[in-house]
Amino acid sequence: MGLRIKIGKVTFPNPVWVASGTFGSGEEFQDFLDLGTIGAVITKTVTLKAREGNPPPRIVETPSGLLNSIGLENKGIDHFRKEVYPVLRELKTKIIISIAGADKKEILKCAGRLLEEEPPDAIEVNLSCPNVTQKATGYRLISQDPRATERIVSSLRRETTCALIAKLTPDVTDVAAIARAAEAGGADAVSLVNTYPGMAVDAEDMKPVLGNVIGGLSGPAIKPLALKAVRDVYNSVNVPVIGIGGIMTGTDVAEFMLCGARAVQVGTANLADPGAYTRILAEFKLYLKRKKIDKAGALTGRLKT
Ligand SMILES: Cc1cc2nc3c(=O)[nH]c(=O)nc-3n(C[C@H](O)[C@H](O)[C@H](O)COP(=O)(O)O)c2cc1C
Repeated sequence: MGLRIKIGKVTFPNPVWVASGTFGSGEEFQDFLDLGTIGAVITKTVTLKAREGNPPPRIVETPSGLLNSIGLENKGIDHFRKEVYPVLRELKTKIIISIAGADKKEILKCAGRLLEEEPPDAIEVNLSCPNVTQKATGYRLISQDPRATERIVSSLRRETTCALIAKLTPDVTDVAAIARAAEAGGADAVSLVNTYPGMAVDAEDMKPVLGNVIGGLSGPAIKPLALKAVRDVYNSVNVPVIGIGGIMTGTDVAEFMLCGARAVQVGTANLADPGAYTRILAEFKLYLKRKKIDKAGALTGRLKT
């Protein structure tokens, strides 16, 4: 059975990856699975400077979903280069490094520092970050603004030949328009969705549950929304689409691929069960066998409508 898929010039061993922020830096999961079986590991987002993240509590369970407001807590790119990247490079899996920043300058500086090292297999630029130009543009997040999206992606494109993936927020009226902007900027692929904004309320205390009041919703609750977003984008761009949102089973993987995803990322499922990835990949392989599909890539966009 052929599981390989290509993004840019990179061939990945299979289309089932693990999503940023839900798999540590990979090595933490070494006791639970053979990392060599993973299609790709996307690291937790790293920024130019260390970030403390949001006030606690930062995670709350909701029916069929998880609400988090981690706030991109990380130790910064210099710590990542020194302490994390050397370990990652030893792992027998494709590594995609997720970077972010408040504006173009910060993102380019972060990428520049990273690219002083041996380049990773791909960079995923997390554009679902608060936008420092909010006052001028009215856009709260970078990937709510098509112009900022295109500008940042095209600047990164000039800096590197390594595969470039733009990760988008679903918190927009027309996610396909933002995906087109990322494509125009030269992204090799777009990944979606990041979490949906939401909140949880403690009626007894009459308070929001999260320290940051607002968090991002992930898990099965968002799968139907994410499937639609992936299909909308697939119908609107030529670059590969990477589907994310509530994948818990191999059938979920197939659903995203039918809607147009070339690859997918598993997020919250890893937090619920560190063995989830292995099960999901095995279930997806069984699906392909049952459907007599010998190349995983042949599933992309095959939804009958
Ligand atoms: C606890 C937690 C931390 C996350 N951290 C990041 C992050 O650092 N960067 C990023 O791009 N996405 C982050 N995400 C979003 C996931 O990568 C993914 O896009 C989202 O959770 C939807 O997929 P899922 O429903 O399978 O979890 C995080 C999600 C969770 C639940």
